[in-house]
Amino acid sequence: MNLALLGGGRMGEALAAGLLKAGWEASAIAIAEIDSDRRHLLEERLAGVRVVPSPAWAATDAAVVVVAVKPDDVAAALEACAPVLADGALVLSIAAGVTIEALEAGAPGHPVVRAMPNTGALVGRGAAAISAGTLADDADLELAERVLGAVGIVVRVPEKQLDAVTGLSGSGPAYVFLVVEAMIDAGVLVGLPRDTAATLVRQTLLGAATMLGNGTESPEALRAAVTSPGGTTAAGLQVLEARGMRAALLDAVEAATERSRDLGRRA
Ligand SMILES: NC(=O)c1ccc[n+]([C@@H]2O[C@H](COP(=O)([O-])OP(=O)(O)OC[C@H]3O[C@@H](n4cnc5c(N)ncnc54)[C@H](OP(=O)(O)O)[C@@H]3O)[C@@H](O)[C@H]2O)c1
Repeated sequence: MNLALLGGGRMGEALAAGLLKAGWEASAIAIAEIDSDRRHLLEERLAGVRVVPSPAWAATDAAVVVVAVKPDDVAAALEACAPVLADGALVLSIAAGVTIEALEAGAPGHPVVRAMPNTGALVGRGAAAISAGTLADDADLELAERVLGAVGIVVRVPEKQLDAVTGLSGSGPAYVFLVVEAMIDAGVLVGLPRDTAATLVRQTLLGAATMLGNGTESPEALRAAVTSPGGTTAAGLQVLEARGMRAALLDAVEAATERSRDLGRRA
């Protein structure tokens, strides 16, 4: 099965690399990228993958076309390749904020799946949500899951929930990076050299994330297991609760969701 990627930016490259790792044939993947320096880089990094300047060249014969250009470039990329799309070719878009309605207008008669991935895809640990367009059936959703599954996990949601996905997992990595920055500063405050604090905090996050990722215990149970009665962690958690960390996160996700809705309305 041939796959075309429109846009060989960070996401496009990560997807292609993930697909190769998952066993896709390099010769079955084509990437359209307008920047010539970037094309050369992709050819070096993704041996055997066809890298071309035009969306139409990449999309001919493709069973699935992944739209990974910036949101403002989606209409032009689809316009360029729509005339050469094979019958029934799936259009899978990861462009933030570009609606199913707009995608279907850009690729008339083709099944469309809209996805909201996140930056974890760059390291094979993405969290993506997908929504089916009006012509997409279960096989199309399964194909979208296979493609995005090469760089992380995929859940299905109705399109109206994609703003909430954007506010939660789309923006989520940035919330965690902010927590990490603050914890490193806190380490310095209590007397640790900055590089020591940074090393400890990064590994602390990685360890905690790995425990969560195992999925065997809830976050509540994991937290209880490291919170001895009257101990140091309980003292620290009391301050986080008193200063409203939980409420701040609820408000942050709500604000990001609302901003995503606003941007969608203006598009
Ligand atoms: N990165 C993330 O964490 C993330 C998360 C969720 C969703 N997304 C979505 O994923 C998409 C890609 O994001 P990204 O981070 O990979 O951005 P990026 O690195 O800027 O990649 C976009 C690439 O597409 C190229 N391009 C633009 N128009 C083109 C056209 N008509 N034909 C062929 N190539 C074209 C761009 O080239 P030029 O730079 O030369 O224009 C650029 O290399 C965006 O729509 C974004 O909303 C990204």
